[in-house]
Amino acid sequence: MEAIEALLTRRSTRNYKPNPVEQEKLDTLLEAARQAPSGSNNQSNHFIVISSRAALDELILLTRKALSGMDPEKVVYPALKNAINLSKKGGYVFCYNAPVLIVVANKKDYGNNMADCSCALENIMVAANALDLGSCWINQLRWLNEEPGVVEHMQKLGMKEDERVYGAVIVGYPADGLPKRNLMPQKGNEVTYIK
Ligand SMILES: Cc1cc2nc3c(=O)[nH]c(=O)nc-3n(C[C@H](O)[C@H](O)[C@H](O)COP(=O)(O)O)c2cc1C
Repeated sequence: MEAIEALLTRRSTRNYKPNPVEQEKLDTLLEAARQAPSGSNNQSNHFIVISSRAALDELILLTRKALSGMDPEKVVYPALKNAINLSKKGGYVFCYNAPVLIVVANKKDYGNNMADCSCALENIMVAANALDLGSCWINQLRWLNEEPGVVEHMQKLGMKEDERVYGAVIVGYPADGLPKRNLMPQKGNEVTYIK
């Protein structure tokens, strides 16, 4: 697939087959992520690739516990409010049923941590589309990146003491076959040309 086509037709996938993603494809996604630009060529993203079902289930429980301890009335962001309310009911699964979650950590005292993480995540999502994989940005671990229980757990999974989570992405084979790939008319994202 052409690079521009892969970029224009990437769409978020939220329902997956349980099939694992081949190691070769994962290696390609991670190389695409590692080749992303970074501020001053800092290259301090740390990718934690989780494909163990037990580890994913543990993270789902931990996230649900952390979110259900929060007060939805003290939160303005609608997606977070919704996640808190669903977690309190007990059934919230932040990473859907995807077989792989790639968490991106970076140095907590580095000013471009979020920007560098975003460049890497976009590379992963576009590369996933080119490889017939679905993907979706997953933000809950970023919301909870100062929650002691979540920090401790991520450290057990390899995150360094001076790192925090700035984003994550799920990848896998879409439940209904190939990724959707519809070109969506965009309502926002204004462009101003000065000629
Ligand atoms: C910073 C950011 C955070 C996001 N967080 C989530 C999330 O936690 N869960 C989710 O299902 N989608 C998440 N998304 C995906 C957006 O909802 C999605 O990109 C948007 O609705 C446009 O749809 P498209 O990706 O199919 O073009 C996130 C996207 C971005 C860029």
